Formats: sequence, C-alpha cells, structure tokens
Amino acid sequence: MTMKRKRIAMLTGGGDCPGINAVIRAVAKKAMLEKEMEVIGIEDGYHGIVNNLHRTLNYNDVSGILTLGGTILGTSKTANPYRYAIKKIDRLEFKDLSKIAIKNLKDLNLECLVCIGGDGTLGIAYRLFKDGIPIVGVPKTIDNDLRGTDITFGFDSAVSIATGGIDRIHTTAESLHRIMIVEVMGHTAGWIALYSGVAGGGDIILIPEIPYDIHRIAEKVKERNKKGKRFSIVVIAEGAKPKGGDIAIQRIVEESPDPVRLGGIGFVLGKHIEKATGLETRTVVMGHLLRGGTPTPFDRILATNLGTKAVDLVQDKKFGYMVGIKENSFVAVPLKDVAKGPKLIPLNHPLIKAARSLGTCFGD
Ligand code: F6P
Repeated sequence: MTMKRKRIAMLTGGGDCPGINAVIRAVAKKAMLEKEMEVIGIEDGYHGIVNNLHRTLNYNDVSGILTLGGTILGTSKTANPYRYAIKKIDRLEFKDLSKIAIKNLKDLNLECLVCIGGDGTLGIAYRLFKDGIPIVGVPKTIDNDLRGTDITFGFDSAVSIATGGIDRIHTTAESLHRIMIVEVMGHTAGWIALYSGVAGGGDIILIPEIPYDIHRIAEKVKERNKKGKRFSIVVIAEGAKPKGGDIAIQRIVEESPDPVRLGGIGFVLGKHIEKATGLETRTVVMGHLLRGGTPTPFDRILATNLGTKAVDLVQDKKFGYMVGIKENSFVAVPLKDVAKGPKLIPLNHPLIKAARSLGTCFGD
C-alpha cells in the first residue's frame, strides 16, 4: 500500500523584500527532500486563495533562487479575503469572501499553509487559523516592525542598501557644503533609519518614536559649522514627524487593509531646515529601492533558517504559530501575539544610547 504524500502550500503577502525567495526555497526543499511532502505555491498572496490560483512547485522551481530578489510566487498588498476589494467603474466594493477562500484551501487538502509576510499578512493568517486553516507564519518585512521576533528577514538588506545610499550622499554633501537629507522607509517604525543612520554616520537621525524639534536640528547643524564641518547628513524615517505636527502621507490606497502610504517628510524638513539655518539643503528619498535586489548574506542565512524551522513547526503540527528569533534562539510565537500592532523602537534602545554618546542628534 502506498502512503499518500502530505501536501503543504505557501504564500507570500504584502510588500516584496530581499530574502523571500530564499525562504520559499528553504521551505520547499526541506519539505520535498527531508519530509517527502508535496509543495503548492499560491500565486499573488491572498488574491490567489480567493481566486484559486496556485501551482505545484517542483525541485527546479525552487532551485537557483537563493539570491533572487522579489518573490517567484507574486504577492499582493491589497487582497484580504475578509474584506476583498472589487473594483467597479466608479467605486470600490468590499465583500467578505473568506468562505470561498476557506473552501478553496480545504479543497487543496493541506497539511498546512505557510504564510510569509508582515503584520498585515500574518493578521489575516491568524483569522484564517481561527477559521480552521492550519497555518505557520514566517516573519518578513524590511521595516523590522513585527512583534514576537527580534528581527525579520529583509531588514538587513534594506539597512545595507540605505547605508550605501548615505555613504554616497556624503561626498556631494561635503563637496558642496550642503545639508543632505536621506529619507528611508520603515512605515511607523524607525528601525531602518536608526540602523542605517548609525552605520552611515548620520549627524542627525529622526525616527517616529522621537518627534523632532526643528530648533534642535538647526542648532546641531550650526554647531557643526562652527567646528568646521560645513555639511550635515540627516537620516529621516518616512514615519517621523515634528513635535506637535503631522506625519507626511503620500497617498491613501483605499483597497488596502493598511491604506496609508507614508512619504515626503524629508521635503517638508528640508524647507524648514533651509529657513532655520539659511543653508542649502537637498532631499533624497530612497523609497522602494530598499526593497529591491539580492538579499545580504545575513538575510540569506536568516531566511534559510526561518524556512527550515517553519517546516519543523509543520511537522510538529504547531499550527497558529510564527517562527521567530528571540535573543539569538528560534522561538514559536502565537500568531495572536504577532498581530497586535507594530514593534516600535524602545526609547532606551542601546543603539540610541550609543549614538547619543557620540553626539548624534535625534532632534529632541
Ligand atoms: O512595509 C514595507 C514598506 O516598504 C514600508 O516600508 C512602506 O511604508 C510601504 O511598504 C510602501 O508601500 P507601497 O509598496 O504600497 O508603496
């Protein structure tokens, strides 16, 4: 008698980021080679579940993708089975299509659905789990703002790209004696700005967790000028805001579960700095560049580890959990604890303390 092979499926949700394909590869190869499982790839995140878009992945599909950016499965930042947006000519209509999604998943006869995503994707995954779908989560986001894990894959790559940008900005800032502002992504958290700001030697680092005072920034720039440093580098998170002021909203994506897209605070700050100091200022927005290209070696290793650990959770039937990292050890974190809002930087974070001790200004 032949035993029926167990079958798992995988989806990637939310924004793409370096390292997703490395996770897909790790999950699929371990499931195929060690556990003799069949692996299905769901296309375009939750859109693929609602519309039954999937394909069987074979070994060659997941071989040679370790260093590849993006996701071979495609993804979606808008599809939510519980509030699925349908575009009409003049408006959007929202429908709860979760019953269809759940039926489609049940028809696949899955041992488990592995969801690779950030808080939005894993929040939906938790709802599906409560509705009877066996789920294991893998933490993905360049923003590093996911609860339950010290680090997400994609973050190191984004920090590396942002730092490269800051390094290049230094030469033009120094040559032309300008203030250069580099705006980086991170949503409502300042992790990318803090880490790349410190790694790139930013003189002023502005993060959402510490609202800034323009007078403090102007003082810092003038103080540097007096010391003969006729340029300054400001690294600002897209979610940063002035004390008592507002965040800069770039657009509202109505059909998205998390509709607010941030961006542009660097330009607002640039005008204010020029006014307060009289010094020429330019702003560069790194934006989506931070999500592109090949993952760093650190992210490749993290993605490989997280992917293989996710298969262990599947094997142990530990459904409703995400694989995370706490103090350098792998942990299984209940999905319900992950979907509780963003993980912000604590104000007593050692890197903030270290940077302050070197004279870095946080705008406060
Ligand atoms: O969550 C990842 C992220 O890149 C954030 O840093 C950023 O705020 C957002 O996605 C941008 O979204 P979009 O790709 O829809 O412009």
